[in-house]
Amino acid sequence: MIPESFIQELLSRVDIVDVIERYVPLKKGGANYQACCPFHSEKTPSFTVSPSKQFYHCFGCGAHGSALGFLMQYSGLGFIEAVEDLAHSVGMQVPKVSERGQSDRAKKAPLTDLMLRAARFYKEQLKASPKAIDYLKGRGLTGEIAARFGLGYAPDDWQGLQKAFPDYDDPALAECGLVIVNDQGRRYDRFRDRIMFPILDPRGNVIGFGGRIIGPPAEAAADGASAGPKYLNSPETPLFEKGRELYGLLPARQAIRDEDTVIVVEGYMDVVALAQHGVGNAVATLGTATTPNHVHKLLRQASKIVFCFDGDAAGRKAAWRALEASLDQLADDKSVGFLFLPPEHDPDSFVRAEGAEAYRALVRHPTTLTEFLLRELKSGVDLATAEGRARLVHEAKPQLLKLSAPVLRVQLTKAVAEAAAMTQAEVEAQCGIKPLAKGYGSRPAPPPRRRSIEISLAKTLLEAVLRRPERAARMPVELIDGDRPEALALLAIARAIDHGDLPGANLGSLMEYFRGETFEATIAEAIGRTADQTVDEGEEETVFQDAIERLRASALKAEIDELNAKARMHGLTIEEETRRAELLAAKVRLQPR
Ligand code: UTP
Ligand code: MN
Repeated sequence: MIPESFIQELLSRVDIVDVIERYVPLKKGGANYQACCPFHSEKTPSFTVSPSKQFYHCFGCGAHGSALGFLMQYSGLGFIEAVEDLAHSVGMQVPKVSERGQSDRAKKAPLTDLMLRAARFYKEQLKASPKAIDYLKGRGLTGEIAARFGLGYAPDDWQGLQKAFPDYDDPALAECGLVIVNDQGRRYDRFRDRIMFPILDPRGNVIGFGGRIIGPPAEAAADGASAGPKYLNSPETPLFEKGRELYGLLPARQAIRDEDTVIVVEGYMDVVALAQHGVGNAVATLGTATTPNHVHKLLRQASKIVFCFDGDAAGRKAAWRALEASLDQLADDKSVGFLFLPPEHDPDSFVRAEGAEAYRALVRHPTTLTEFLLRELKSGVDLATAEGRARLVHEAKPQLLKLSAPVLRVQLTKAVAEAAAMTQAEVEAQCGIKPLAKGYGSRPAPPPRRRSIEISLAKTLLEAVLRRPERAARMPVELIDGDRPEALALLAIARAIDHGDLPGANLGSLMEYFRGETFEATIAEAIGRTADQTVDEGEEETVFQDAIERLRASALKAEIDELNAKARMHGLTIEEETRRAELLAAKVRLQPR
């Protein structure tokens, strides 16, 4: 596979006009070149080639692309052949296929394929194993739920996967963690005689597995051999990064939206058992602590997270880690709560013993972040002494500073002040809590607005950026949010340009950069829309700037609304009053004259 950087370098060295001219006679017309389209039959030319965009487009049939795309479409070459052909024409050497140089996605695709085949194999094996089926039934699971989660069974066989993979020696099997190669070079299956839980990424690719032994964890067996840990997980591979993934997110997505709440539990079985009882909005971290990345992902999908951990010491510790991971991801319209079950229970056993309604009732009224934080902070100090109260403030400081929800921070500061027998202003002064940022958009930044960008606005911006990719650098990306593909594509383009991955910054190179990637279709659609409209340069720039002003205005409005709401409910601090005045002034400046 060919590194992305080589493709970009290659495209920057060729001119699409030269490339196409080798096959189609072009005529200059204005800034562009024209011809009768080689891809459909026509009498008047509607095929145009833009040297500045390094892009061709036919207004008649919609064909479009980069120089590489043209070679593929015109000559029927495959992608790699087209790259080789083009490289040859400018005397460049296509780099040897090297493990290291491979681009991410090129490395991942074949591995994803193996994982899918393995998941299918394990699923088949489950059907054939009465022992495994009985175990799952014994844990209260129906076939339907097992199918929804794609559960499987890894047979009790050192080379069971040989049946699914005739080329058992394929190094990729080891790379994706399915096969282990020992010191003697002997290969064997990582997962043997286990219930298999496939782990999916948000697109539905199988990226890892968790495997549970069947039955209770064995004491060290008499013959010294052990079945290994209760749960065995895939190692970190190019596909699988534990701190980023969540188990069960894909099947839970709809329920998370419906309830606007996501429950985070510790175990695979907890997720599956809750779903079995109709509580479909639960996901699990994968045997790791909750990370800010997890929280970020989840708060995009629901405004409330409830962490549900065991009531024991380990559970409290996990909850504390989750709290720390949440502080800088919070906004005032989002909440994080904690649910501690009785010590003898985990969510699986609780829902089986007490039923879904009892569980839902607990989820509706979790311990709030403020309660949990204060309880933990207070538990380590003696509030009867001045030293203890000082220590409380000292320990609260980093948490208060980290908290990204401004109004909640004020609330929490008040609570800490009260517990420490101080005033709010004293605590703020001691902790160096700064008033809200002065001047709109300056640092420290106002809390990220967790409102989704309007669809039409995202589309307009994306079209403007595709007309001139360098505009991506002028967008206030921090104001773009939401999980619309257009918004995500915009962010991806801005990131690529920011990282210098697109030195050419023209449409042709941009399209190649996203070839085979998630946003390829979104980008192609938007290109289709832009190419159909002929807009003059100045007008186009105005459209772009208007869109940015709309974006700023709606972010401003959201913050003003928030402060107004607060003013009505609790009144504003002096800092907040100042901030509101600044925002209102900025709003006036933004208003069209
Ligand atoms: P638990 O030990 O709480 O298991 O581990 P559980 O979810 O209650 O499992 P059952 O009910 O006995 O089947 C919680 C999570 O910690 C990780 C797994 O992700 C598991 O789901 N874990 C646990 C491991 O990775 N390895 C282990 O050996 C144990
Ligand atoms: Mn359990």
